[in-house]
Amino acid sequence: MKILVTGGAGFIGSNFIHQILQQYPGDEIVNYDLLTYAGNLENLKRVEDDSRYSFVQGDICNREALQDAARGVDAIVHFAAESHVDRSIYSSDEFLQTNIIGTQTVIDVVRELQIPKLVHISTDEVYGDVKAPEKSHENSRIYPSSPYSAAKAGSDMLVIAAIRTHQVPAMITRGSNNYGPFQFPEKIIPLFITNAMTDNYLPLYDGGTQIRDWLYVADHCSGIDTVLRKGKIGEIYNIGAEQYPEITNEQLTHMILELVGKEKHLIKPVQGLRPGHDQRYSLNAAKLRALGWQPSVTIEEGLKRTVQWYQENQDWWERVKSGAYQEYYKKHYR
Ligand code: NAD
Ligand code: DAU
Repeated sequence: MKILVTGGAGFIGSNFIHQILQQYPGDEIVNYDLLTYAGNLENLKRVEDDSRYSFVQGDICNREALQDAARGVDAIVHFAAESHVDRSIYSSDEFLQTNIIGTQTVIDVVRELQIPKLVHISTDEVYGDVKAPEKSHENSRIYPSSPYSAAKAGSDMLVIAAIRTHQVPAMITRGSNNYGPFQFPEKIIPLFITNAMTDNYLPLYDGGTQIRDWLYVADHCSGIDTVLRKGKIGEIYNIGAEQYPEITNEQLTHMILELVGKEKHLIKPVQGLRPGHDQRYSLNAAKLRALGWQPSVTIEEGLKRTVQWYQENQDWWERVKSGAYQEYYKKHYR
């Protein structure tokens, strides 16, 4: 299968590319990515000389360039997005442009080139937060809380409309919170690991009582691959670890500190840095499990692997954390 991956230089996209090339010797990948602050070709060093892999730098909003890159592919797996909630609260322009206009452009290209399959990568955040013991199902109400999740919900609506109006052969995945190698250190897990390693404080928002359904990135990628190969056109699939017992951000922070070998005094409680902060996400992933998928990495094992990866790849995150990152960090965390 020849697959065009949008956003393949980001965290999940690059993990997905590694996984596909390793698992399917006959597959080819075209990685189409604009290389925003979150895109990093270092994530793909291991495959850059693989003849089955190619990279095209481009914007998903640029229809002609995307068409050129997508000609002849069997499927598009669409990851490219602005992905950080906190950044969307400062300014939503790029979020609307990439997540909404960009997704419509991807849909248009699928139609124009008659590409046989589109997998649109969405998020559990489109459901908003849910009270325990409730779980979000694929047909639960869409009720996003942040400009990021509202823009993702908008992109889902465009895909749903294209399936109905134009019979676009698309599917949607809604994944829960990911963690693992190559994650940009603005998200809580890599931020807290790298801050703890350098004895910087861990800014724990709003009492740390919030709950996320942590999914190791390799499990998310195998879920997306299951949808790509076995999913039914027109359907939506949740991809969640369905972690039990659930863990709060505070518990997660303690686990990180223990793995890095640092003390709790590094935790700095902060308030008000995420207005509209969602309390709890929880997914029902039974529909995907029925296709034979299940997550294989526990949070204990996944965190251990992730801490080890950041310890072994200090050069990678030190480079990422220099330059423009510093400006964002100072502005946001003051
Ligand atoms: P990321 O921010 O690490 O990577 C995004 C990638 O998209 C980057 O490589 C960036 O350069 C590229 N990109 C941004 N704008 C672009 C544009 N206009 N044209 C082409 N490329 C562009 O994001 P991620 O965490 O890997 O998330 C990937 C996808 O998965 C997103 O759609 C996100 O909404 C979704 N998702 C993320 C999570 C998570 O926990 N990180 C969970 C569920 C779903
Ligand atoms: O649920 C899927 C979503 O997961 C994806 O759609 C998003 O792209 C991805 O960014 C992620 O969103 P979150 O907002 O849940 O992830 P983040 O790591 O930013 O925050 C996780 C929790 O940690 C949240 O409750 C806020 C808290 N937090 C976050 C940061 C950055 C802190 O306490 N301190 C921090 O400095």
